[in-house]
Order: sequence, then C-alpha cells, then structure tokens
Amino acid sequence: MTPIENCIINKKTTNTPIWLMRQAGRYLPEFREIRKLNPDFISLCLNESLVADITLQPLKRFELDAAIIFSDILMLPYGLNQKVEFKKNFGPQLGSFNLEKASKINEIDFLKKLYPVYKSIKKVSEHNLIKNKNLIGFVGAPWTLLVYMINKYSPKKELIKNFFKDELLINRILIILEKFLKIHIKHQIKNGATVIQIFDSWAGLLEKKKLPSYIYMPTLNLVDYVKSLNIPVISFPRGIKNYKNFCEIVKPDVVSIDYNVDAFSISKKINIPIQGGLDPKILLTDKENLKKQTLKYLDIFKDHPYIFNLGHGVLPETKPEMVDYLVKTVKDY
Ligand code: CP3
Repeated sequence: MTPIENCIINKKTTNTPIWLMRQAGRYLPEFREIRKLNPDFISLCLNESLVADITLQPLKRFELDAAIIFSDILMLPYGLNQKVEFKKNFGPQLGSFNLEKASKINEIDFLKKLYPVYKSIKKVSEHNLIKNKNLIGFVGAPWTLLVYMINKYSPKKELIKNFFKDELLINRILIILEKFLKIHIKHQIKNGATVIQIFDSWAGLLEKKKLPSYIYMPTLNLVDYVKSLNIPVISFPRGIKNYKNFCEIVKPDVVSIDYNVDAFSISKKINIPIQGGLDPKILLTDKENLKKQTLKYLDIFKDHPYIFNLGHGVLPETKPEMVDYLVKTVKDY
C-alpha cells in the first residue's frame, strides 16, 4: 500500500504524504526547455513520450509520493472537437461549442483523439520511479468545464453576462460531459492511474441556490463512478463557501482545500481525509517563513488523515529550491 492509500484507506495520520498541484510545469527549467521546443500546448499534451518525461520530472528532483499526469482539463473539450488554444500571457482560448457536432461524437472518435494521453499514463505507470507511489489521473469537474466551454476563456472573477440564459444548452452540455468524463476516467484508470482528482477551479463563482444542479449532482455522479471502479477520488471545489456541505453531499474520499480556508476550523468540522491548503505564494517568500507556514498545517492536521499539498497550483515564479525545502520539511516532521 502506498503512503497516500495508507492515508486515504487506513486513515493513517503519521508520515504525511505529499504531492503538489502543477508540480510538473513552468517553474522547472527542464520543463521550460521542452516547452520552448513545443509551442503548441495541445500537441505537447499528445506527445506520449514527452508527457511521460514531464510527468516524471518532479519525481527525479523531489521525494514526492505521487506523480500527476501532465495533461490539461481542457483536453476534454478538445476531444469533443471544440477548438482549444493556449495563448501566451492570456491562457486558454476556446472556439464555439457546436452542440450538433458534439452530439454525434461517439466513444471511439473521442478515444482516438485522446489515445496518446492514455498511452503516456501506461508508460509512466510502468516506470521504476512510480513504484510505491500513486499516479494521479484527473478531470475537470463538469461545472468548471462548462465555464470554459461557454465562456470560451478564463472567467477570471466573473462569468459573461447571460451565462445561464440558455439552460437547455447548459443541461445538454452537462449530459454530454458526464458521458465523456466517465469514459475519460475509465481509460485513465485502465492504463494505470491509481487515484483520480476532480478539479472544480471555478466552484466559487456560483451562488448557493445553483450549487445542487451545477456542482453537487454532476460531481456526485462522477465521484460515485470512480468509487465503483475501486479507485480513491479527490475533489477540489476551489473557493466553494461551504466545504462541509459539499463533503456531506458529494462524499469524495478526500477533499482538497484552497488557501482561503481556515485550516483549524475545517479540521474540526470535516471527518474525511483532507488535502492541501498552503498558499502557493508562500513558496515565493523565504525558507524561514515557508517552514513556519508548513509546520502550521502539519500541526493542525496532526491527528487528521492529511495529504500535504498547496491550496492551488505551484506558481511559475517558484524556485525549485523552495519546493525541495518544502518537501524536506514535510518528510522530516
Ligand atoms: O498539475 C500538474 O502538474 C498536471 C498538469 C495540469 C495542467 N493543467 C498543465 C498545464 C493540470 C492538473 C491542469 C489542470 C487545469 N487546467 C485546471 C485546474 C487546476 C487549476 O489550475 O485551477 C485548469 C483550470 C486548467 C485550464 C488551464 N490550462 C489554464 C487556465 C491554463 C493557463 C494558465 C496557466 O495556469 O498556465 C492552462 C495551461 C496549462 N496547463 C499549463 C500547464 C503546465 C501552462 C502551459 C504553458 O504555457 O506552458
């Protein structure tokens, strides 16, 4: 059993395991080197051998307990034939979503487009560096994907006007998403993913009355699906105001918290294993402060099953040396 499984399944509270969201990425010079030669991000995500290399890069440097497959949540709309581009200093830019066309896509067409993703998962899962560690597969939650698919670019702080105007369209997209997200999850697991994380980066944009239909129900269906395949599932409903309600309804195996959550109060309110919390900006300060803030989380979750992680992804400006120091601080605790 891996350290992460020991935490999730046996509810073990010692030897806190650690991995980091965006642990493979732009803060690593060896990633930037590959990225420079591969300006098209989607093509990079479809290059099996580079994806496997990038996924393993952080494991070569740091004593992490998991690798997360190098991919993107927007590979799903790409698989549904929506145009997806990543523009420098702007982020993702999507084309219009064509419901007619997407309704005609079958499982085989979709798998053909995403086939290299699964092959790279297989490749990583067979690598020596992943022994006794987890390989994390992931998807975007239906709500967050819907936001990108309709909004077409990052909503930053708010949604476009009239986002909810065409509820029929939204509901039809949600049905399509559920079907293909399950297919995407199934094939990641079949090829060697041993944990699934569901990223709901824009959960915080919704008002309370919309949570049941856009977050709770669609996520619950995915969580139940992952559980039915006997694989642990981590949910990250970033910015959701009431994590306790979310956990009681959706019941993921682990909940990942963002950096605005009061760690102490949530440790008392939520019984399931908790992951994350540390503000990624702390990694941009100094070692003394990083140690202090890291120990704060470790102390608070001393008697709670806890997976160390950040409250959002590693920032591109982060020095690898600081990540090393963070991992060592957790391992020495
Ligand atoms: O965590 C990892 O190391 C695995 C890889 C991973 C990426 N994206 C690679 C990536 C994961 C898990 C994601 C998830 C993802 N993608 C989310 C959910 C998590 C979160 O950050 O909230 C979202 C919302 C996206 C969509 C996305 N992809 C955005 C908004 C951007 C541009 C802004 C940014 O953060 O760079 C991307 C591009 C992207 N995805 C990059 C990487 C390494 C940067 C590409 C580059 O320019 O080199």
